Amino acid sequence: MKRLELVIHPDVLLRDRSQKVTDIDEELVSLTDAMIDTMHRARGIGLAGVQVGRLARLFVTHVDRDTPRVFINPSIVETSVDVGAYEEGCLSIPGVYADVNRPLAVKVQAWNEKGRPFTLDADGLLARVIQHELDHLNGVLFIDHIADSVRESVMADYDCDVDPATVSRR
Ligand code: NI
Repeated sequence: MKRLELVIHPDVLLRDRSQKVTDIDEELVSLTDAMIDTMHRARGIGLAGVQVGRLARLFVTHVDRDTPRVFINPSIVETSVDVGAYEEGCLSIPGVYADVNRPLAVKVQAWNEKGRPFTLDADGLLARVIQHELDHLNGVLFIDHIADSVRESVMADYDCDVDPATVSRR
């Protein structure tokens, strides 16, 4: 299977808005297969297209006691009134974790890898991952949701090999 390279913050690609997927074809299915593999290898529970250099509106998830899931052109159509904090991390910001407030449940509509539309009511960790990954499709990172003082503190020791000045566009 094709090995995919992770895009790491502060690569500016992570700030771009992903484009709608128009064809769910063989190439796209092999991409989502490779994304699931990459997510598993990195011990992540969610991965968006942009994180492997593809500005396409899709992401994959695999939380505990669930199967791997593919979400293509997803949209959140309902969110719970109840909001809660939970510690999040991101494969594109390795080693950084912070509590993020989000709605505790969401209803999401998307297409799966077979090109079939589905609606899913999610709560718990899956609801959180769906919101985190959907943010990626709009160029938003979890660190954008936390207070400036907290961000400064959690990012103080962040070190990555990416020099933003030398990052090339994919
Ligand atoms: Ni992330």
